[in-house]
Amino acid sequence: MAEPKKLFIKTYGCQMNVYDSERMAEAMGGAGYTEVASADEADMILLNTCHIREKAAEKVYSELGRFRDLKEAKPDLKIGVAGCVAQAEGAEIMRRQPLVDLVVGPQSYHRLPEMEAKLRQGGTALDTDFPEEDKFEKLARRPKARRAPAAFLTVQEGCDKFCAFCVVPYTRGAESSRPAQRVIDEAKDLVERGVREITLLGQNVNAYHGAGPKGEDWTLAQLIWALNDVDGLERIRFTTSHPNDMGDDLIEAHGTCAKLMPYLHLPVQSGSDRILKRMNRSHTAESYIRLIERIRAARPDLLLSGDFIVGFPEETEADFQATLDLIEEVRYGQAYSFKYSTRPGTPAAERAQVDGAQATERLQRLQALLGRQQREIQESMVGREVDVLFERAGRQPGQMVGKSQYLHAVHAAAPDARPGDMARVRVTGSATNSLAGTLI
Ligand code: 5AD
Ligand code: SF4
Repeated sequence: MAEPKKLFIKTYGCQMNVYDSERMAEAMGGAGYTEVASADEADMILLNTCHIREKAAEKVYSELGRFRDLKEAKPDLKIGVAGCVAQAEGAEIMRRQPLVDLVVGPQSYHRLPEMEAKLRQGGTALDTDFPEEDKFEKLARRPKARRAPAAFLTVQEGCDKFCAFCVVPYTRGAESSRPAQRVIDEAKDLVERGVREITLLGQNVNAYHGAGPKGEDWTLAQLIWALNDVDGLERIRFTTSHPNDMGDDLIEAHGTCAKLMPYLHLPVQSGSDRILKRMNRSHTAESYIRLIERIRAARPDLLLSGDFIVGFPEETEADFQATLDLIEEVRYGQAYSFKYSTRPGTPAAERAQVDGAQATERLQRLQALLGRQQREIQESMVGREVDVLFERAGRQPGQMVGKSQYLHAVHAAAPDARPGDMARVRVTGSATNSLAGTLI
């Protein structure tokens, strides 16, 4: 028997990349690879990359440079680049960094084993196609190994929105949704292996329109209701959503679907209508605020999360102030905020750029406000009871750590609990990034 070869995968960027890396590891498992935790012992290294901002993309090249010594010591070592940098830059990556043997775009991961075989015969391999066949069907099924209590499940990929700053429609392609039954089957398989919470993933997940059992398109809400019936599955989340795709049935489900958690990530990007228009967002600050009101009417305790970009081309101080005003009105429990990053090939790259120092200063003010809101909302949990899904042991003996329904990290003394257990916990304290509580 040949010894298993060793694969090291490093994942950058979004949760979909985390999911994709798991699937690649499984596909390569079928080609005789086991996953290892460090690059030093690997026979093959895969970087699963992110192209969303310049900094993320540049990180890949500095990481690749660090593998030079490894490759000199072990000439058989194969180095691959996957993910959105692979899709966006293709063969250019090998020209810029000749250490790279393989470049594979997100739609071609099911072809990885073939590509690896090609490498072993010498030469390089490149695949950035958008193939006809369904990669999810072609990707090897997972071995029946135990899984952590919380898992990701991709249900939708790609985006047709073309926000003026964003590379996703180019790197992940047009919107496509997996058939509902396939998602349900995968969810059941995850539950059999110990998963209790599933986060449905898509670049534009609430635009989901996969084929239902009778061939008619299902909405995301219909899919969530079907998953609500899966025994053993306790919690459902989804991310990331676009305001314009929040259908009435999805809003309603937040109030009526027992397993759907009271947490919603709904990026707005800016609070200025002028900038929103230039971003091609096709919603206004006002329509977003009205939408939040409707969702909160359905689920009053909803914790809201958002994404913000500051320093978008042509943003003035007044535009920025409108973003701060929107944040004051909405109140976010969680947020991700970014300085605008010019992405080649996107419409906004051609426009008058905001001075970098000014954008940095705005980002600091924005993050101060968002940080304050986040802290206040977290502190308001103290004294309340929450449900915690324990995920792992904590640092103290007998302590367990998990997530509340609002996605706050919570730790509590629970010597008899195991990962996957749910517990009712009274929150007793709030630290920087977590809550402390006691079992009820
Ligand atoms: N510059 C800065 N932030 C960006 N995002 C997407 N593209 C850019 C860009 N060019 C942010 C958006 C999006 C999140 C995933 O990343 O806020 O919602
Ligand atoms: Fe990018 Fe999201 Fe806009 Fe699509 S909706 S273009 S993924 S920011």
